[in-house]
Amino acid sequence: MEDNCFNQTVFLVTLLLAIAASSVRGHSTRVGFYSSTCPRAESIIKSTVESHFKLDPTIAPGLLRMHFHDCFVRGCDASILIDGPNAEKTAPASQFLKGYKVIDDAKFQLECECPGVVSCADILALAARDSVVLTKGTSWAVPTGRRDGTVSNASDTDGNMPGFQDTIDVLKQKFAAKGLNTRDLVTLVGAHTIGTAACEVFSYRLYNFTSTGADPSINPAFVSHLQALCPQNRDGSRQIALDTGSADRFDTSFFANLREGKGILESDQRLWTDDLTKRFVQRFLEVRGSLGLSFNVEFGKSMVKMSNIEVKTGTMGEIRKVCSKVNEY
Ligand code: HEM
Ligand SMILES: *[C@@H]1O[C@H](CO)[C@@H](O)[C@H](O)[C@H]1NC(C)=O
Ligand SMILES: *[C@@H]1O[C@H](CO)[C@@H](O)[C@H](O)[C@H]1NC(C)=O
Repeated sequence: MEDNCFNQTVFLVTLLLAIAASSVRGHSTRVGFYSSTCPRAESIIKSTVESHFKLDPTIAPGLLRMHFHDCFVRGCDASILIDGPNAEKTAPASQFLKGYKVIDDAKFQLECECPGVVSCADILALAARDSVVLTKGTSWAVPTGRRDGTVSNASDTDGNMPGFQDTIDVLKQKFAAKGLNTRDLVTLVGAHTIGTAACEVFSYRLYNFTSTGADPSINPAFVSHLQALCPQNRDGSRQIALDTGSADRFDTSFFANLREGKGILESDQRLWTDDLTKRFVQRFLEVRGSLGLSFNVEFGKSMVKMSNIEVKTGTMGEIRKVCSKVNEY
């Protein structure tokens, strides 16, 4: 009798393992991955992002940017969250990233609710979506089932992370290397409709850019405005809105600003110089025309693509217990 029971258990466990294995064999993410294993996962993450946002709205752009940085280096595997002397977060490209404590907070609650189930990479992907919604953008369904990486190396940012001084051709190449086309490039850079940049990343455009002065691609009236915000040789960490006039709202005014020569980053303003990228900017601004595109709809679609870059699924990687460090066995 006991033997039978044992055998039955063994049989059931084997069956369940086989089903589990076959369901992950697809090696892709899917919407609702946690619907049976941790049904409240998405709502726990959402309410955590919301409560932090109420205290500090700057975490919304912070989390969106962090997800981008995670995905472009070793895929969306939460490698950006790992602490260490030469970890990704110490790279120059990771400067001013923020929102780490929001992810830690959500992870802590999820480990109480369903230990060892929800990956840090998924928490970050969902928190990025929730951040867009909190800034009045349009929601989208985030496919989940990412697993966490175990490697984080600052030098992996070289060559992978787009730079604000990159030419459009280099930006196109860096996005193409991640399976993202020029349309995705323009759409995703539209994330700069929220958040800020430090004076030190763009003030070189304001002073002595040419022998006669500022970067000629900046609207002259806007140059003096920016010079007042970022005086020469003063605090370079001062944060300035990337979308002048509407930095807390997920809308198309970032693109309208490019049309007026009011882009903050050199790479942002360049979207208005290249023929193809300019066409997409124009289409976002002509939403009612026959070629018009809805920025908010396109953003969700391109984010699903970005969020799936080189994802680890199935038995790859691990589910970290604490997002800032790999598991110890
Ligand atoms: C051409 C590619 C891109 C370049 C060169 C770039 C560069 C930058 C730079 C230099 C900053 C300012 C950081 C600071 O000084 O605090 C910034 C901010 C930001 N970036 Fe990008 N970015 C790019 C694409 C993206 C993408 C694809 C996303 C997300 C989908 C994104 C989201 C953000 C957000 C939300 C901020 C504001 C962060 C905050 O306020 O904390 N960026 N970006
Ligand atoms: C990080 O990557 C560089 C370049 O590939 C390599 O030389 C270095 O050993 C790596 N560091 C660690 C800690 O793995
Ligand atoms: C840059 O321009 C400022 C004011 O226009 C001037 O005082 C300064 O000497 C210049 N710096 C260099 C390195 O040319």
